[in-house]
Amino acid sequence: MSEIIIRENLAADAEQALAYMHQIGAESDNLTFREEGLSITIESEREYLQSVHQDSHSVSIGAFDGKSMIGNGSLSGMSRRMSHLAELGLSVRKAYWNQGIGGRLLETLVMYARENGIELIYLDVRSDNASAIHLYQKYGFKKTGSYPAYFKIGDKYYDFDLMVLDLR
Ligand SMILES: CC(C)(COP(=O)(O)OP(=O)(O)OC[C@H]1O[C@@H](n2cnc3c(N)ncnc32)[C@H](O)[C@@H]1OP(=O)(O)O)[C@@H](O)C(=O)NCCC(=O)NCCS
Repeated sequence: MSEIIIRENLAADAEQALAYMHQIGAESDNLTFREEGLSITIESEREYLQSVHQDSHSVSIGAFDGKSMIGNGSLSGMSRRMSHLAELGLSVRKAYWNQGIGGRLLETLVMYARENGIELIYLDVRSDNASAIHLYQKYGFKKTGSYPAYFKIGDKYYDFDLMVLDLR
């Protein structure tokens, strides 16, 4: 395996980012979407990545093995009275789990938050997603609440934990 690079996702990565979402959706039941990925066009994804790049409270980053995106992380800044908050998203291709890539992405996002005036990072995670919860706790996130039956997959319900990293 070549060295894994972590860098910002730019508009030029739109096509690859959408392909990645299809792949990761098929590999995990922990995300809001399945193998269909996000039903948006390459052009909308390009515009989205461009707007994130220009927003000082949001960032989209990727982990790349050579030219292939194998991990993705994001902070989505909020507005008005919540402009001190950002919401976090994180995923890694299954073949690369437990090699520290999720941790590297998370560390990069937390560093971005500190450097860009984000005071609290919020996320929600399936309550039975042990590896993600372990990782978030390792970086200081604390559980502050739960959402009962937040996902319904088939006829089964899944609770979620709300976790927060308070950087104040
Ligand atoms: C959650 C996810 C991003 C982690 O990525 P990763 O690259 O495997 O993360 P890392 O290798 O940096 O860390 C994984 C940690 O979980 C630990 N772990 C693995 N399985 C575990 C389990 N069953 N219980 C507790 N900890 C576990 C590993 O030991 C490692 O911790 P360590 O570094 O202290 O040893 C990845 O599994 C993923 O993309 N899952 C599907 C999408 C998802 O769930 N995203 C999170 C949505 S909130």
